[in-house]
Amino acid sequence: MPAVLDAQRAQEIIDAHLALEGPLLPILHAFVEEFGFVDDTAVPLIANALNLSRAEVHGVLTFYHDFRREPAGKHVLKICRAEACQARGSESVARHCLADLGVDWHGTTQDGAITVEPVYCLGLCANGPSALFDDEPIAALTADKLVSVIEEAESV
Ligand code: FES
Repeated sequence: MPAVLDAQRAQEIIDAHLALEGPLLPILHAFVEEFGFVDDTAVPLIANALNLSRAEVHGVLTFYHDFRREPAGKHVLKICRAEACQARGSESVARHCLADLGVDWHGTTQDGAITVEPVYCLGLCANGPSALFDDEPIAALTADKLVSVIEEAESV
Protein backbone atom coordinates (compact mmCIF):
# COMPACT_ATOMS: atom_id res chain seq x y z
CA MET A 1 0.00 0.00 0.00
CA PRO A 2 1.73 3.21 -1.07
CA ALA A 3 1.71 5.86 1.61
CA VAL A 4 1.09 9.45 0.59
CA LEU A 5 1.19 12.39 2.92
CA ASP A 6 -1.20 15.32 2.84
CA ALA A 7 1.16 17.68 0.99
CA GLN A 8 -0.53 20.86 2.20
CA ARG A 9 -0.38 19.80 5.83
CA ALA A 10 3.19 18.59 5.33
CA GLN A 11 4.20 22.02 4.03
CA GLU A 12 2.50 23.70 7.01
CA ILE A 13 4.53 21.52 9.37
CA ILE A 14 7.76 22.31 7.54
CA ASP A 15 7.02 26.04 7.55
CA ALA A 16 6.28 25.97 11.28
CA HIS A 17 9.78 24.60 11.98
CA LEU A 18 11.88 26.64 9.57
CA ALA A 19 12.97 29.18 12.17
CA LEU A 20 14.47 26.49 14.41
CA GLU A 21 18.17 25.87 14.48
CA GLY A 22 18.64 22.39 13.03
CA PRO A 23 15.03 21.93 11.95
CA LEU A 24 15.36 18.58 10.16
CA LEU A 25 14.89 16.25 13.12
CA PRO A 26 12.05 18.33 14.63
CA ILE A 27 10.30 18.30 11.24
CA LEU A 28 10.65 14.52 10.93
CA HIS A 29 9.36 14.05 14.48
CA ALA A 30 6.44 16.36 13.72
CA PHE A 31 5.60 14.34 10.61
CA VAL A 32 5.55 11.12 12.62
CA GLU A 33 3.36 12.77 15.25
CA GLU A 34 0.95 14.14 12.64
CA PHE A 35 0.85 11.33 10.08
CA GLY A 36 2.37 8.38 11.90
CA PHE A 37 5.05 8.04 9.23
CA VAL A 38 7.32 9.95 6.83
CA ASP A 39 7.11 8.60 3.31
CA ASP A 40 9.28 9.33 0.29
CA THR A 41 6.99 12.14 -0.90
CA ALA A 42 8.12 14.16 2.11
CA VAL A 43 11.78 14.04 1.15
CA PRO A 44 11.77 16.62 -1.70
CA LEU A 45 9.45 18.93 0.26
CA ILE A 46 11.80 18.95 3.23
CA ALA A 47 14.95 19.09 1.11
CA ASN A 48 13.71 22.11 -0.83
CA ALA A 49 12.61 23.95 2.28
CA LEU A 50 15.89 23.36 4.14
CA ASN A 51 18.14 23.77 1.11
CA LEU A 52 19.46 20.25 1.56
CA SER A 53 19.90 17.52 -1.01
CA ARG A 54 17.31 14.78 -1.15
CA ALA A 55 20.09 12.34 -0.28
CA GLU A 56 20.84 14.22 2.93
CA VAL A 57 17.22 14.14 4.04
CA HIS A 58 16.82 10.53 2.97
CA GLY A 59 19.99 9.61 4.85
CA VAL A 60 18.71 11.04 8.11
CA LEU A 61 15.25 9.60 7.57
CA THR A 62 16.56 6.09 7.03
CA PHE A 63 19.24 6.26 9.74
CA TYR A 64 16.72 6.56 12.59
CA HIS A 65 14.29 3.68 12.81
CA ASP A 66 11.90 5.77 14.87
CA PHE A 67 10.96 7.55 11.66
CA ARG A 68 8.48 5.02 10.34
CA ARG A 69 8.36 5.20 6.54
CA GLU A 70 4.88 3.81 6.02
CA PRO A 71 1.72 3.68 8.08
CA ALA A 72 1.81 1.31 11.03
CA GLY A 73 -0.64 -1.47 11.55
CA LYS A 74 -3.70 -1.09 13.76
CA HIS A 75 -1.58 -2.23 16.72
CA VAL A 76 2.13 -1.64 17.32
CA LEU A 77 4.19 -4.16 19.25
CA LYS A 78 7.64 -3.04 20.37
CA ILE A 79 9.89 -5.76 21.75
CA CYS A 80 12.95 -4.77 23.74
CA ARG A 81 16.20 -5.93 22.20
CA ALA A 82 18.57 -4.26 24.64
CA GLU A 83 21.10 -6.24 26.61
CA ALA A 84 19.22 -6.95 29.84
CA CYS A 85 16.15 -8.20 28.00
CA GLN A 86 18.30 -10.25 25.64
CA ALA A 87 19.88 -11.90 28.69
CA ARG A 88 16.34 -12.79 29.80
CA GLY A 89 15.36 -14.34 26.49
CA SER A 90 13.81 -11.55 24.48
CA GLU A 91 15.40 -12.67 21.22
CA SER A 92 13.80 -16.10 21.46
CA VAL A 93 10.38 -14.59 22.20
CA ALA A 94 10.85 -12.14 19.34
CA ARG A 95 11.81 -14.89 16.89
CA HIS A 96 8.66 -16.84 17.78
CA CYS A 97 6.52 -13.73 17.48
CA LEU A 98 7.94 -12.65 14.13
CA ALA A 99 7.59 -16.17 12.73
CA ASP A 100 4.01 -16.49 14.00
CA LEU A 101 3.03 -13.16 12.48
CA GLY A 102 4.98 -13.77 9.28
CA VAL A 103 6.85 -10.48 9.43
CA ASP A 104 10.36 -9.20 10.03
CA TRP A 105 11.34 -6.30 12.27
CA HIS A 106 9.47 -3.13 11.24
CA GLY A 107 7.04 -5.29 9.29
CA THR A 108 3.26 -5.19 9.36
CA THR A 109 1.07 -8.24 9.05
CA GLN A 110 -0.66 -8.64 5.71
CA ASP A 111 -4.02 -7.81 7.24
CA GLY A 112 -2.60 -4.57 8.63
CA ALA A 113 -3.33 -5.63 12.19
CA ILE A 114 0.11 -5.54 13.81
CA THR A 115 3.44 -3.84 13.25
CA VAL A 116 6.44 -5.24 15.12
CA GLU A 117 9.31 -2.95 15.96
CA PRO A 118 12.43 -3.24 18.10
CA VAL A 119 12.98 -0.94 21.02
CA TYR A 120 16.12 -0.53 23.09
CA CYS A 121 15.35 -0.45 26.81
CA LEU A 122 12.02 0.52 28.27
CA GLY A 123 13.34 0.97 31.80
CA LEU A 124 11.77 -2.35 32.81
CA CYS A 125 15.01 -4.32 32.74
CA ALA A 126 14.49 -6.06 36.08
CA ASN A 127 11.20 -7.51 34.81
CA GLY A 128 12.29 -8.36 31.30
CA PRO A 129 11.94 -9.45 28.69
CA SER A 130 9.86 -6.35 28.14
CA ALA A 131 7.65 -5.01 25.39
CA LEU A 132 5.10 -2.36 24.62
CA PHE A 133 1.82 -3.20 22.98
CA ASP A 134 0.08 -0.02 21.85
CA ASP A 135 2.20 1.80 24.43
CA GLU A 136 1.09 -0.49 27.27
CA PRO A 137 4.09 -2.14 28.95
CA ILE A 138 4.34 -5.90 29.15
CA ALA A 139 6.82 -7.38 31.64
CA ALA A 140 8.14 -10.93 31.89
CA LEU A 141 7.29 -11.44 28.26
CA THR A 142 6.85 -14.99 27.00
CA ALA A 143 5.72 -16.27 23.64
CA ASP A 144 2.45 -17.48 25.23
CA LYS A 145 1.81 -14.13 26.91
CA LEU A 146 2.40 -12.36 23.64
CA VAL A 147 -0.02 -14.64 21.80
CA SER A 148 -2.66 -13.87 24.44
CA VAL A 149 -2.13 -10.12 24.18
CA ILE A 150 -2.36 -10.21 20.40
CA GLU A 151 -5.43 -12.45 20.38
CA GLU A 152 -7.16 -10.22 22.91
CA ALA A 153 -6.43 -7.11 20.84
CA GLU A 154 -7.68 -8.73 17.66
CA SER A 155 -10.93 -9.81 19.34
CA VAL A 156 -11.88 -6.22 20.26
S1 FES B 1 16.84 -3.85 28.54
FE1 FES B 1 14.78 -4.23 28.08
S2 FES B 1 13.73 -2.90 29.40
FE2 FES B 1 15.80 -2.42 29.75
